[in-house]
Amino acid sequence: MKSIASAPGKVILVGEHFVVEGKPAIAMAVNLRARVSVETIDNSSDIIIRSKELKIEETFSSKHINEKSPLYPVYVAASLARQHISLEKGLDIIITSELPPAAGMGSSAAVAVATAAAVIALRKKVDRNIVSKIAYEAEKIVHGKPSGIDNTISTYGGAILYIKEKGFTRINLNLKNVALVLADTGMPRSTGKMVARVRKLKARYSSVLDPIYKSAEILAYEVAKALEMGDVKTVGELMNINHGLLSAIGVSTIELEHLVYAARNAGALGAKLTGAGGGGLIVALCYKKDLLNIENALSGYSKKVYIANISRRGVIIEHKHMHSMNGVE
Ligand code: PMV
Repeated sequence: MKSIASAPGKVILVGEHFVVEGKPAIAMAVNLRARVSVETIDNSSDIIIRSKELKIEETFSSKHINEKSPLYPVYVAASLARQHISLEKGLDIIITSELPPAAGMGSSAAVAVATAAAVIALRKKVDRNIVSKIAYEAEKIVHGKPSGIDNTISTYGGAILYIKEKGFTRINLNLKNVALVLADTGMPRSTGKMVARVRKLKARYSSVLDPIYKSAEILAYEVAKALEMGDVKTVGELMNINHGLLSAIGVSTIELEHLVYAARNAGALGAKLTGAGGGGLIVALCYKKDLLNIENALSGYSKKVYIANISRRGVIIEHKHMHSMNGVE
């Protein structure tokens, strides 16, 4: 039996870090995807995982499970999904991904989501809630204490307002004549470490930081409203303010600042770091007519500048070779 699933990466428009403490954040799925193919292995219960981009391969057997492997979270997603469908056979898993790793585009969540879906599709109809829950378990290994926003947006696609432990509501985007541009500082960073750092700061200065968290909460709701009303100027200005709040909690860097100011000076409606910070990416909201200018300005500081097209599609089963063809519920 064989199946292939793919899941999108994401960009967080506003609310990262604040979302870890229960405040709302807005995320959008982008049209760069991770793809996972799974084939059952007879006469074995091993899970073999290969990552084409990372150029690594690891075999997880009942005798040996390497918890230090970068592929261990994928193993966790695969083995939970295998339990869910009560399968005892081994699995041969191949990962390919268009997403830059450790840059803040949710590549680890997209891989976990696609893995869980591909394994479940071997035997059952794919229930998105279960896929997202399994991917969350894998995300805990990668990031320590994730909010769950990455696995949620990668599973469901589109644009969402997400609140930890409450779930998400869809945002009906009303964006015309604008695009999102991403630029990479080229400095990888660890989401888990950045989250731990912010939590420490929050614990030490809670009375100082509480109003910042409150402000981020109000800001996210205002951005959701402005996105639905097509008020792109307000979205841009609030993105700038959100960047200031993120600087205040210590997650910006000089490289991120260079990119943010380059985008703003070249005419972006708004620009901010996106994701955990400490490196990784910025996101800029731009009128399409200004795109070339902004891309050129960013290229002066970044080797990787992308236009992020929003993807409505969350996780999908791309291929399935067995008795019947089931989609995603
Ligand atoms: O590094 P990213 O883009 O996956 O950022 C995760 C967003 C945080 O809010 C920093 C952490 C989380 O779990 O929500």
